[in-house]
Amino acid sequence: MVVMSRAIYSGASLAQVRSDLKGLVEFEYEGMDSTDLSSQLKTTLVPHLLNYGSPEFQSMFNAFPEEGALIGAELALHVNQGVTNWQVSPGGAVLEELCCEKLCELFELSEKSEATFMYSGTYGNQQALYLALHRHAEKMGFDYSKEGMSGFVNPQNLKIVVAEDVHFSVLHATRFLGLGENALLKIGLDENLRINPAEVMKVLEGHASEHEIVCVVVTLGSTITGSVDGLPGISKMCSEKGVWLHADGAYGLAYSLLPEKEHLFRGLEMVDSIVWDPHKQLGIPIPSSLLFLNDGTNFERVNVYSNYFNRKEEEMPNPGLKSPPSTRPFSALPLVTSIKTQGLHGLRQRLRSSINAVNDLAEFLIDDAEIEIMNEPDTGVICFRVQPVEIDKQDLCSLQEYVYKRTNLEGKRAISIATIKGKKVLRLVSVSPEVTVRALKSTILSIKEMAKKFVKN
Ligand SMILES: Cc1ncc(COP(=O)(O)O)c(C=O)c1O
Repeated sequence: MVVMSRAIYSGASLAQVRSDLKGLVEFEYEGMDSTDLSSQLKTTLVPHLLNYGSPEFQSMFNAFPEEGALIGAELALHVNQGVTNWQVSPGGAVLEELCCEKLCELFELSEKSEATFMYSGTYGNQQALYLALHRHAEKMGFDYSKEGMSGFVNPQNLKIVVAEDVHFSVLHATRFLGLGENALLKIGLDENLRINPAEVMKVLEGHASEHEIVCVVVTLGSTITGSVDGLPGISKMCSEKGVWLHADGAYGLAYSLLPEKEHLFRGLEMVDSIVWDPHKQLGIPIPSSLLFLNDGTNFERVNVYSNYFNRKEEEMPNPGLKSPPSTRPFSALPLVTSIKTQGLHGLRQRLRSSINAVNDLAEFLIDDAEIEIMNEPDTGVICFRVQPVEIDKQDLCSLQEYVYKRTNLEGKRAISIATIKGKKVLRLVSVSPEVTVRALKSTILSIKEMAKKFVKN
């Protein structure tokens, strides 16, 4: 087990980090003693790694590995199984299948649902858009896997409906799929920073009839604010219009396992595809991402067989047919050992701790005139602006930038910055049980002091 100091990281400059690490890539003719190498790693590399286990790590969705997950991760590393199919790992392939079946059940997806592990949420989003295009092409009467974009009469009319703050992985997806970013039809956000359902409906109703809507993307826990888009109205409309509905739950889907948050996720079984990242608040070692389909037969749209591997004639389990990589990591194992050791109760407690920390902070700040809260937290993220009474309103954006930079430079805590409706805002995140309301309050105190210094200068 690597022991890290309590600090966020060493605080060293880029030049210092490069200089400390240079020795690690000086490859010599003779190999190095492994004990010496371990001690070199401990002194040169570890101090410069970010300590996700620190209560002051409040900026991003990363977490240290959950203890039970380590049991599975260590075994997976030890045996280095590729789990594409029965031929390379009978136990690996079957455990992945069983785990996917159980997760579909836990998330209460449809009877026909199936899932696959992916290398990242980004690839999950990309594959979901591919599936949407494939089905749209089928409606147009051709096989997208053979003809690709050239099969569409007017490819420039194809549109993907997204919120204006959609995760940038969806932008990547449009580029990689040959759609281009212009295919994104951006929808504004409502008062709690969720995709505006009325605007989505308008687009689907055909007010922009020159467009062919291929897919609507909703986000279950947006990256910037953690807001969960409303599913029922949008999913009903998508199913009536035959439009693929994709839910990016990379960050937020886990919270649907909490009874007190269930209402935010109503309608999950109506969505075509859903992405989830257990490597975020569950602390499952990277890579750990999944793509769920409520109608599992849609995975056939990505099946590619070869004559030596993933053969069509093979009768044994072949989870690797559901996504492109021919070598796939044993991501199911750490997730299984984590849930097994914590139990569902422990897992829910872990999720609850991050939500409660942020909710308690929001309540604490409600009457604070020096803090303008930007979102009523649905999950574990809060965005706000610090605004000392003496501040000139036109300096508010520069003030947030100043506080963000100064805080991170100090190296004691990590916070993030974002833009909401044209305003620079500070963003605090709690993804692991270490980030308590106490730790968050202490950050607010430090931010306020810094803001006062900005005003004085
Ligand atoms: C909402 C959302 N979607 C997608 C992603 C991308 O997932 P990954 O980092 O696993 O590629 C993220 C990452 O933070 C995210 O917050």
